[in-house]
Amino acid sequence: MTDVSRISSAAGRSPAARPEPDGRSAYDVGDRKALRTVLGAFATGVTVVTAEGDEAPHGMTANAFTSVSLDPPLVLVCIDHDAVMHRVLGTTGHFGVSVLAGEQEAVARHFADRWRVLGTAEFDTVDWRPGPLTGVPLISDALASLECEVWRSYDGGDHTIFLGRLLSLDRRADGEVLAFFDGRFCHLDLDRSEVSA
Ligand SMILES: Cc1cc2nc3c(=O)[nH]c(=O)nc-3n(C[C@H](O)[C@H](O)[C@H](O)COP(=O)(O)O)c2cc1C
Repeated sequence: MTDVSRISSAAGRSPAARPEPDGRSAYDVGDRKALRTVLGAFATGVTVVTAEGDEAPHGMTANAFTSVSLDPPLVLVCIDHDAVMHRVLGTTGHFGVSVLAGEQEAVARHFADRWRVLGTAEFDTVDWRPGPLTGVPLISDALASLECEVWRSYDGGDHTIFLGRLLSLDRRADGEVLAFFDGRFCHLDLDRSEVSA
């Protein structure tokens, strides 16, 4: 696993933990570090959300991505009010989601880096292609790529929950997953078991 201390505030001071007899630790829900520590136990994939801004396309690394509904086909992303992407999604009708593959950690770091150059240069170092229906940038060689129209948005505290109705979908035949766990990127050695549902 590789540390993301420069781009994530998950690293640094440890939150105040109250040891419990069974080896677990309890934390204060008002402590932001504690929230990151505990919620970081939920392993996710890593996506780049993309959209056309007023003057240039914009991308942002996001792991608060979930499939929501099959009929209609909906996904959601949660975007921080302070993110540039929040303003962009508030004014555009479409967004893209690229699910990153194991070898795309550098792409994830690029679009999470708050000091990256924005504007037309933002995508200069990244391979991308325009989405077939909306033209939003999709990261080349991502495991999966989605184009969405903004369907609804909801208050989510200091984030906004944007629901997207799927317009197009594609998926690579194979490839490794880029995952995020405990504030770090990880490369999974998959031992897959079937789920019957
Ligand atoms: C693995 C990872 C996942 C992230 N997930 C989200 C997310 O789901 N929502 C969010 O608002 N920020 C998320 N971030 C933080 C943004 O990527 C970061 O703040 C970015 O610089 C915001 O870009 P912008 O302000 O230029 O739009 C994540 C960062 C990392 C490293």
